[in-house]
Amino acid sequence: MTRTLTIPRPDDWHLHLRDGAMMAGVLPATTAHFARALIMPNLVPPVVTGLDAAAYRDRIVDALPQGAGFTPLMTLYLTEATVAADVVAAHKAGMITAVKLYPAGATTNSASGVRDFDRVRAVFEAMAEAGVPLCVHGEVTDPAVDIFDREAVFIDRVLDPLRRAVPGLRVVMEHVTTADAVAYVQSADAGLAATITTHHLVINRNHILAGGIRPHYYCLPVAKRERHRLELLAAATSGDARFFLGTDSAPHADALKLAPCGCAGCFTAPNTLPVLAHMFEAADALPRLGDFVARFGAAFYGLAQNPGTLTLIKGDTPQSFGAWPTGAGPVTVFDPGFEVLWRVACRDERLPRP
Ligand code: DOR
Ligand code: ZN
Repeated sequence: MTRTLTIPRPDDWHLHLRDGAMMAGVLPATTAHFARALIMPNLVPPVVTGLDAAAYRDRIVDALPQGAGFTPLMTLYLTEATVAADVVAAHKAGMITAVKLYPAGATTNSASGVRDFDRVRAVFEAMAEAGVPLCVHGEVTDPAVDIFDREAVFIDRVLDPLRRAVPGLRVVMEHVTTADAVAYVQSADAGLAATITTHHLVINRNHILAGGIRPHYYCLPVAKRERHRLELLAAATSGDARFFLGTDSAPHADALKLAPCGCAGCFTAPNTLPVLAHMFEAADALPRLGDFVARFGAAFYGLAQNPGTLTLIKGDTPQSFGAWPTGAGPVTVFDPGFEVLWRVACRDERLPRP
């Protein structure tokens, strides 16, 4: 039986594109499906000023496939040297959509991130005043804290005190992985939201470690126990507008993943929508997919829903995703571990009658 689902053109509220040959290689995977994406600034060196963001946006636009109706929404990488006035000016000029907080050492290319949160208090206050959202990588980096506890501890030690100290700050807790984070967001007022990735809805920590180590499932924050995954799935499919899609699609060349110290990141851009359609259908929540991928995030960021639609079709033949070629080497596409029967209809595809 063929099924179709038509949703507004979606947004990805957390995307790594990198730069140069890698960016040129992975960009079409996103632009084929998404109308907008919030672009992460953790390049080397990072995107720290409004001028950096403008230059990076130009490089993305230059690399867009022909005819791609795609808008990159830029972010600034917060450092202890960030100047509040530069952030506010870049936001006012429409150059940036948000600021990204990486605790120093928390993840890929986070060495320039924040060590002492008091040193960026003035930036947070200026952002609250000007309505600039803060996107947070919510993990502590204290080596004494177990890696599976780092998100929950971050809420108590950093996020909650920060939100109390700067109550007007709008915060997105990125790529939440725990029941603790879901509960914290649910308990908060309208100034807090969370993104959820595709892969954290599908895998738990057994997928990474049981029966052999699987580097392509290693990402940060690392996937947790099954009970946490179930809470994420419940939140994503609940219709609560505070939870929306940010894929955290994070391409690394296979040679850098399959290494003694492999990089963190799952590359989900090519199959996120088919995988999500499967997960939402299995949760009996297919009618809510459009909210999660195309409405709730835009509403939080104060943007209009994208014009146009995207249609997904469920057929009988599983799609396979393997290595995605790029000029920086092949990147393995996330394997959800089930047959992917949903696919995105090509623009010129003649759709079966409903
Ligand atoms: O798994 C991840 N990969 N998590 C992050 O926070 C960063 C990302 C990357 O840039 O590779
Ligand atoms: Zn990320």
